[in-house]
Amino acid sequence: MKAVVWHGEGDIRLDTVDDPTIQQPTDAIVQITRSAICGTDLHFIRGTMSGMAEGTILGHEAVGVVTEVGSAVRRFSPGDRVLICSTMSCGACRNCRRGLTAQCDVANPNGPLAGTCFFGGPQPTGPVDGLQAEYVRVPWAVNTLIPLPENVSDDAAILLSDIFPTAWFGAELAGVNRGDTVAVLGAGVVGQFAIASAFRQGAGRVIAVDGLRSRLDIALGQHAEVIDFNAEDPVPAILESTQGIGVDAVIDAVGVDAQRPWAGPAKRAGDEQAEQFDAERSQVAPQTNVQGENWVPGNAPSQALQWAVSAVAKGGRLGVIGVYPPAMTSFPIGEAMNKNLIVKLGNCNHHTVTPPLLDIVATGLVDPTALITQQEPLTSAVEAYESFDRREEGWLKTELTVG
Ligand SMILES: NC(=O)c1ccc[n+]([C@@H]2O[C@H](COP(=O)([O-])OP(=O)(O)OC[C@H]3O[C@@H](n4cnc5c(N)ncnc54)[C@H](O)[C@@H]3O)[C@@H](O)[C@H]2O)c1
Ligand SMILES: [Zn+2]
Ligand SMILES: [Zn+2]
Repeated sequence: MKAVVWHGEGDIRLDTVDDPTIQQPTDAIVQITRSAICGTDLHFIRGTMSGMAEGTILGHEAVGVVTEVGSAVRRFSPGDRVLICSTMSCGACRNCRRGLTAQCDVANPNGPLAGTCFFGGPQPTGPVDGLQAEYVRVPWAVNTLIPLPENVSDDAAILLSDIFPTAWFGAELAGVNRGDTVAVLGAGVVGQFAIASAFRQGAGRVIAVDGLRSRLDIALGQHAEVIDFNAEDPVPAILESTQGIGVDAVIDAVGVDAQRPWAGPAKRAGDEQAEQFDAERSQVAPQTNVQGENWVPGNAPSQALQWAVSAVAKGGRLGVIGVYPPAMTSFPIGEAMNKNLIVKLGNCNHHTVTPPLLDIVATGLVDPTALITQQEPLTSAVEAYESFDRREEGWLKTELTVG
């Protein structure tokens, strides 16, 4: 079968690999019909999330049809249309049973202390071959798969594999309350769904911050108030629009590939911290492979975290869903301490967060297809990765059609 395979930083290929087979009674095999490229995948190729094993199939977002189930999979049978959650969970351990499925004690083959197990990630996450492929082995299928109702199309479902639930979870981490003013840092597709989620969870105002005008225009389309960090300094701009108080909550939808302003009034402050940012970058990305404009790691890993802490009100809340690797150690803890902030973060508990969102999509209240800007065949995935990585105008979210 065809699959997108990680060979090294800056080196991914469409390879022909063996079809997957059932290895455990808890496995299922799914024939993929739709997959997608995520901002998380970019961290692995830029090198800002290290530890990938050569030969790992990439991707952790997909929809498909079950073709085979192991003897312990009592919930699904061949022919079922399913959504594949990005993270795997056993359904039986103490953490799964309290809804903390991203911290399942059993799914990660590296043991209970190894953290979240997800498809197509670095060695400490499994590694489990990913979903940018024609077929996939789904471990712990009972919990990792979600049945899809007939009235939700594959195109509507694909962003429920990771993006919408992660953003919803981010708004929950940020403790969005009725009437809150919420800042969403990053207007990538996760940020866009964070805006939608914050409004649906009761936010009175949502302020979106990014440096890409085309993405801010999409945020404006959702009636977020937008701040271009290359035109305005986001922290004073947020303070000014909140009577000097700051926002009630911030959702960080940027992560480790954060950039600092390359123009405008905030550029100088970022440049003054260049040395610190460079040190952070070398710490998180010991190995990189920049090729022209491709696979360039973000030049300010802690920039979004700094802005989050500075722009939030005293006693405010931070929900961090932008991914930071274990190697990242910088966070402005002193300023956060001095403001009595509440900071919550982590990988989405897909198995427990997603089902109600499926209902929201099924009823048409949210149409995720509106945010799919590209539809490419799996065979063009490498070129699609390159365009998305360069943040080419209009490339917000790429869906891959398979088969
Ligand atoms: N926690 C989870 O479960 C989970 C799941 C999915 C994705 N993620 C993470 O969410 C993040 C966003 O994903 P995406 O697919 O939208 O990625 P993306 O790369 O498309 O979007 C990131 C956006 O952040 C913007 N940005 C860069 N520096 C910034 C700064 N200093 N301030 C504000 N914005 C800045 C970029 O211009 C870009 O638009 C990634 O880190 C990804 O790994 C986390
Ligand atoms: Zn993803
Ligand atoms: Zn478990």
